[in-house]
Amino acid sequence: MSHIAAPAVRPLGVGILGAGPVTQAIHLPALARLRDILEVRHIMDVDPAVASSVASRVGSASSTSLEALLADPAVDIVAVCSPHQFHADQVIAACRAGKKAVLCEKPFAMNGEEAARIADASAATGVPILVGAMHTFDPGWLAAEQHWGDLPEQVHTIRSSIVLPPNARFEDFATEIITRPAPAKPDYSDIEVIKAMMQGGIMGLAIHDLPLVRRFTPDFGAVEVLQARHVRPFGYAVSLRTPTRVIELRAVMNSTWKPEWTFEAIGDDSALRIDFTPSYVQAGSAVATFSRGGETTTFGPYGHNGYEGEWRELAELASGGRRAPSAQALIDDLTFALAISEATVQNVAAGHLADTEKAGATA
Ligand SMILES: NC(=O)c1ccc[n+]([C@@H]2O[C@H](COP(=O)([O-])OP(=O)(O)OC[C@H]3O[C@@H](n4cnc5c(N)ncnc54)[C@H](O)[C@@H]3O)[C@@H](O)[C@H]2O)c1
Repeated sequence: MSHIAAPAVRPLGVGILGAGPVTQAIHLPALARLRDILEVRHIMDVDPAVASSVASRVGSASSTSLEALLADPAVDIVAVCSPHQFHADQVIAACRAGKKAVLCEKPFAMNGEEAARIADASAATGVPILVGAMHTFDPGWLAAEQHWGDLPEQVHTIRSSIVLPPNARFEDFATEIITRPAPAKPDYSDIEVIKAMMQGGIMGLAIHDLPLVRRFTPDFGAVEVLQARHVRPFGYAVSLRTPTRVIELRAVMNSTWKPEWTFEAIGDDSALRIDFTPSYVQAGSAVATFSRGGETTTFGPYGHNGYEGEWRELAELASGGRRAPSAQALIDDLTFALAISEATVQNVAAGHLADTEKAGATA
C-alpha cells in the first residue's frame, strides 16, 4: 500500500514596514519560532542600510518604499512597525493593497480622525487589523478572562504598575540593534519636554494596559484625571477616576535590576492580579492569580507570551480561521487612551504652573 503525503501548507508571507528595535528585538525572534506558519519575505525601512541588513538576517527581500513592499505578491500579512506618525497611512495602504491581515504597532493612530479612517478602510476592504498591545494576546490574560465571571461588573479599583530598565537593556539581550539613536538628555525644567514625555508615557507605555483597564471600566467615557505627575528619569504617576472606578497608572524606567509589570483589578469579593513578563522578554506568558472568597486560582505560565500570541492570531485571521476583532473596540481603546493622555498632559501643565508660582512667591 502506498501512502500519499498531504501537500505541505506553505507558510503565510510576512512583510514588515520599519525595521527598528521593535522589529529586530521583538518581532523577528517571535517569528523565528513560528516558521511553520509564518515566513518573513520582505523588510522595508526608509534607511537602506537598516532595510538590507535586517533583511539579510532573515533571508528576505528588502526595500525602502511602502509601495514596493505592498506590491510584493509574496507578502500576505503586513506589520506596521514604523514610528507612530506613519501608522495610520501605512495601515490604510496595506488594507487597500488587499493584504490578508495587518498588524499595527501601538498606538495604531494618533487621533480619533485617523482611527476612524482606519476603521473605514478595514470595513471597506474586509482586511482585519490587530493592534500590537501585546498583553491582550497573552495566554495568561486570556485564561483569566475565561474564569473571572462577573469581576468586570464589580471592580472598584484598577492598578497598572510598571518598573522597567530602559528598553536598550532588553533589546541588547535579544539581538544586536542596528542604528539605535543616541539617547537624548531631557531638559526637565522645560514644561514642553515634560508634556511630551507624559504623552509618550501614556501613548507609548501605559497604552499596553489601557485596553485591560477599559475592560474593567464600563463607564470609561467618563474618565477624569485626579492628579498626574512626571517621574524622573522617565515615568508617570497618574490617578484617575470614573463615577464607579478608581484607576492608578504608575511607571518608572530607571536602572532597576528587578523589572516588574503588574495589572490588578479588585472587586467586592474577587480580585485579579497579573504579573506580565517585561517588554522584549520572550520567556513564557504572564501569570494570572484570581481570588474569590477564600479561594485562589493561578493561570500560567504558558509557553509563549503576547508577542507570539499576536502573530498566531494574525496567522489564523489571514487564513480565515477566525473572525476579525471589532474595529469599534480598537477605536474605543484608542479614544480612551487619547482622553487620558490629553487630560494627563493638561494636569501636568497646571501642576507645573502652580509649582512655578509657589516658588516665585517664596523667592
Ligand atoms: N509592542 C512593544 O512592546 C513595542 C516596543 C517598542 C516599540 N513599539 C512600537 O513600535 C514602533 C517602532 O518603534 P521602534 O522601537 O522600532 O523605534 P523607531 O521608531 O525608532 O524605529 C522605527 C524604524 O522605522 C524606520 N522608519 C522611519 N520612518 C519610516 C517610514 N515612513 N516607513 C518605514 N520605516 C520608517 C526608521 O528608520 C527605524 O529604523 C513604535 O510605534 C513603537 O510604539 C512597540
